[in-house]
Amino acid sequence: MELDGALRPRSLADYVGQKKLKEKLSVYLSAAKGRSEALDHVLLYGPPGLGKTTLAHIIAYELGVNIRVTSGPAIEKPGDLAAILTNALDDGDVLFIDEIHRLGRVAEEHLYPAMEDFKVDIILGQGPAARTIRLDLPRFTLVGATTRSGLITGPMRSRFGIIEHLEYYTTQELAAGVARDADLLGFKIDSEAATEIGRRARGTMRIAKRLLRRVRDFAEVSGEDTVSLVRARSALNELDIDELGLEARDRVILEALITKFAGGPTGVNTLATAVGEDGNTLEEVYEPFLIQNGFLSRTPRGRVATERAYGHLGYAYTPPAQSGLFADDNENSSETSDLAL
Ligand code: ADE
Repeated sequence: MELDGALRPRSLADYVGQKKLKEKLSVYLSAAKGRSEALDHVLLYGPPGLGKTTLAHIIAYELGVNIRVTSGPAIEKPGDLAAILTNALDDGDVLFIDEIHRLGRVAEEHLYPAMEDFKVDIILGQGPAARTIRLDLPRFTLVGATTRSGLITGPMRSRFGIIEHLEYYTTQELAAGVARDADLLGFKIDSEAATEIGRRARGTMRIAKRLLRRVRDFAEVSGEDTVSLVRARSALNELDIDELGLEARDRVILEALITKFAGGPTGVNTLATAVGEDGNTLEEVYEPFLIQNGFLSRTPRGRVATERAYGHLGYAYTPPAQSGLFADDNENSSETSDLAL
């Protein structure tokens, strides 16, 4: 985490990619600063590892204010929230709540007047003698981050003035992020090697940065002072990350679908059991990437391996059966939720 902190870009100019988002945000930041007002509340949503936390820090840096960091699950009682709101914030400060979709109902309802009117209700005492006092808060900016925008309630969402989605990065953007980190860490990397890392990082900045550090380990232990393309390739192969960014577990899942279930359709829980995972993990951790990259599809009757999956794993393609043995065992499938975001 400390290392991440040191490498984190501080300003919008140092933040790679997310071009449209940066353009809009820079307008909102200038306008708020010009008016000497707090920035409107910001909701950032998108898949994990794209830099939502980094962006929250940048917002505070660009505004020249302090940032307080917490997360939905860390706020258990309404008192926890009241303590942060009343003790930790000055005028204009940023309050960053990561995983804001996991905020409890009661805490969420306390947040509404704080966001809207900069007031918080505090309950003093207990039972019949309890009374509520309403405290004024500084005019802060809430930055909320979530990977699951579909789980944000309507009332919560409507209180954010700025709602922005983060996109997956292109290979070039990831390569630029990798080159930047190598520079900051004080070692050299050939541009083709940075591109190779970018290509295998599944559109995700956090993965690119992690791969860079592992590749650097291999290069250093081999006594090389510059990371070459050959070294990057061999290190990534050693890490079991293939040319399309699939990791060993991804391939195990696709292989099981193809070899044990004739490519599907099969229910998510059946498939998960076959590879020793639980259904939720399969659905939330592995599937988004596999679906977005066309290796797997969700159908009403279950999961199906695509022609691309067969090809990538070296199997001859057989189209899915019309009436399979394995009916979908996942009645609560979140097919219609925002999982694929
Ligand atoms: N760290 C996290 N996201 C980043 C980005 N977009 N650019 C540079 N460093 C980052």
